[in-house]
Amino acid sequence: MHRVQVELGDRSYPIDIAPDLLQQPACLLRDYRQVVIISNSTVAPLYLDSVTALFAGSQLHTYLLPDGEAYKTLEHFGHIMTFLLEHKFPRDGLLVALGGGVVGDITGFVAASYQRGVDFLQIPTTLLSQVDSSVGGKTAVNHPLGKNMIGAFKQPQQVIIDTNVLSTLPGREFAAGMAEVIKYALIADAEFFSYLEQHADAIQALQPDVIGTMVKHCCQMKADIVALDETEQGQRALLNLGHTFGHAIEAWLGYGQWLHGEAVAAGMVMAAKVSQYRGWLQQDELDRICALLQRFQLPITAPDDMHINDFMPYMKTDKKVRAGQMRFVLPTAFGYSEVIDDVNDIELQSIFT
Ligand code: NAD
Ligand code: GLY
Repeated sequence: MHRVQVELGDRSYPIDIAPDLLQQPACLLRDYRQVVIISNSTVAPLYLDSVTALFAGSQLHTYLLPDGEAYKTLEHFGHIMTFLLEHKFPRDGLLVALGGGVVGDITGFVAASYQRGVDFLQIPTTLLSQVDSSVGGKTAVNHPLGKNMIGAFKQPQQVIIDTNVLSTLPGREFAAGMAEVIKYALIADAEFFSYLEQHADAIQALQPDVIGTMVKHCCQMKADIVALDETEQGQRALLNLGHTFGHAIEAWLGYGQWLHGEAVAAGMVMAAKVSQYRGWLQQDELDRICALLQRFQLPITAPDDMHINDFMPYMKTDKKVRAGQMRFVLPTAFGYSEVIDDVNDIELQSIFT
């Protein structure tokens, strides 16, 4: 088993990673008298029995959401609250998020708010949620006027990652998670990029030791960044590499057309092209980035009919904008990224030529 510790003083917690972890009751850090598992209609038929068995000694209830980003809303947040109140869920109970980032984000926000905060456990079941959303305490629901606009920072008590659950994940969802994995390599780890290139076949084949090493490495990188900058005053913004362009693609197409990771993949190439224009990346380095993304069937360009002017309205309202100035995360060398605030229109235009 791999263990990564998120070091946040009295809010520190472990991320445990292993195949078959859901078959091991000893993986739980402590017992709770009352537990509510929150999952969805797709994940529950696959894994709810195993997770229920982990809590054999607790009084247990389950709340199932319909499957989809469309249900990560204040309305469903309210339904969960009602369920907890009706079941007299106590302040010292445990909420368990069993699912991908949607289930994790809404459960975390419920945990931050119910009786001003209760303990919660993340059991992420998508690659994206294992390497990114279950770690670091960002929780949220969507509003019709913006994605993730209502939320809180709320760290879990523990993250339990059973890498075997990736075997049932649809291929397109796995690939979307790989975009976030490749993102870590481009932010700060050229050696990890080479590892991913060398082990691409093993990753596709879900070879347990390679998947475990890869997931652990990403969790460690995220834990290190979160420990330095929990509430995104600086360093944590690096995790948004590719996201400024990617969010614009997702929003312009209409949410759900492209998966988030697919848009991030194209967005990372766009960021890399600005870096190439500035002389920070060489053509062969850009080619390596594109080749690795394509190895996982990820897009490397924006939709054909999307032009620079289509990006602007979304990029100008990005959460990274400060005093009206757009800020981009750009690779300033291969395997090293920084937040840059002086990108001009000519450089942005260069992406499309
Ligand atoms: P998701 O939760 O919608 O899961 C994707 C699909 O896979 C769903 O249909 C789900 O039911 C299904 N699924 C999950 N696990 C499965 C399994 N093991 N086998 C079969 N099917 C499975 O999507 P996601 O990509 O995990 O998460 C996206 C969400 O995460 C977005 O709402 C995004 O805003 C959020 N997010 C949050 C953070 C953060 O730091 N909190 C970071 C990145 C993304
Ligand atoms: N996924 C970005 C962050 O956690 O900050």
